[in-house]
Amino acid sequence: MKLLIKNGVIITESDQYQADIIVSGGRIHEIRKEAATSELFDQVVEANGCYIFPGGIDPHVHMHLPSPAGFSSDDFFSGSHAALFGGTTTLIDFVTPCRGQSLTEALDRRLEEASSALTHCTFHISPIEWRDSTKDEISKCIDRGFKSFKVYMAYKQTVGLNDDHLLKVMQAVAQAGGLVVIHCEMGDEIEVLRNQYVANGNTEPIYHALSRPGHTESEAVKRAIELADQALCPLYIVHVSAKESLEHIRTAQQQGQRVYAETCPQYLLLDDRKYDGPFEQTAPYVLSPPLRKPADKEALWQALSDGTIQTVGTDHCPFMFSQKAVGRDDFRKIPNGVGGVEHRLALLFTYGVLQNRITLNQFIKLTSTNAATIFGLFPAKGNVSAGADADLVIWNPVTQCTISATSHHQNCDTNIYAGIAVEGFPEYVIKDGQLVV
Ligand code: URP
Ligand code: ZN
Ligand code: ZN
Repeated sequence: MKLLIKNGVIITESDQYQADIIVSGGRIHEIRKEAATSELFDQVVEANGCYIFPGGIDPHVHMHLPSPAGFSSDDFFSGSHAALFGGTTTLIDFVTPCRGQSLTEALDRRLEEASSALTHCTFHISPIEWRDSTKDEISKCIDRGFKSFKVYMAYKQTVGLNDDHLLKVMQAVAQAGGLVVIHCEMGDEIEVLRNQYVANGNTEPIYHALSRPGHTESEAVKRAIELADQALCPLYIVHVSAKESLEHIRTAQQQGQRVYAETCPQYLLLDDRKYDGPFEQTAPYVLSPPLRKPADKEALWQALSDGTIQTVGTDHCPFMFSQKAVGRDDFRKIPNGVGGVEHRLALLFTYGVLQNRITLNQFIKLTSTNAATIFGLFPAKGNVSAGADADLVIWNPVTQCTISATSHHQNCDTNIYAGIAVEGFPEYVIKDGQLVV
């Protein structure tokens, strides 16, 4: 199948130019600045007035994540379907073993679960405990091409690691040539605060936020950076939300340490005023770290613009309202997480590019190229160039719509962005050279 994309403006991390793209065998065969003849192609897509972006890469999603309130409500099929509608063609999810299960066995199970995904899908692998065999399991995962390992400093009763085991994982990953991905929150301190609030009868969703103040993130960020430095391990810090965290990240980067940072649209666009109100309105916003203050949002936008933060992931982890409602009398029981895989590009385009907070080239880096580079997918992905995979978004910059839980493709009966207007939307999405949206 030979596909021609005509008259679009190609945007990469460093370029912007008009050209025709010839796609064949799932790859970009050629990019031509002079017009190509339409008759020679099986399919022609007119992209006049549109931008052409490399397919979005969302480096942080949790499809079908088990929780005491049931699985996150998007499975790999529904979540990847929603992702495609928003212009994301590659998802990076997680492999989380049960206690006692090997990383490689958990990886095999997760690959089966993900076989229904409509996007490309790869994984960060989570050592949730340190055992005699962990080092060897990490090496085996790397041999199979899975090089990023996710650890948690929170959720100590389930997946979190203490500092001693964090260091061991970092040393093993560094020696095997991988990268550690980390959730930074001081789990023990948060646990004390949560229990204190509930013991005093403070059970509403706002206490979820109050029990996880900004310093519980930034102190964890500082500690994680110190441990990674000691282990000589590259570090990728997920869902940075607090302005205090940014200073630790900047300092480490300035000192030449390989520290990457991710934030998410929810921390750029929403703030803790969402926790004021009745349970029905506030419970959908329970996620970790929680929404912060308006000043944190501004600091995060600045960090996108000055390059301190390299990626915007969604941490897509939606739950139905009935699942959130199990914590009506105790915020500790509300499953943590929100959806957003469908809206990442539109939100960042509207509130980043169109409001002159980031350039179009930065938008491409933040939504695709940097994740591809950090997680070893570049130059096949994250790139519009001859030889790259034909995962492309034909972006109409003037389409307008308002996000809503009734029109979205995510499998969730709430949407934290409902009512927010966006400008710019995929006109077509191409994956492996096939028009999929
Ligand atoms: O609240 C969140 N973020 N839930 C998903 C798991 C995690 O911590 O990333
Ligand atoms: Zn997390
Ligand atoms: Zn997450």
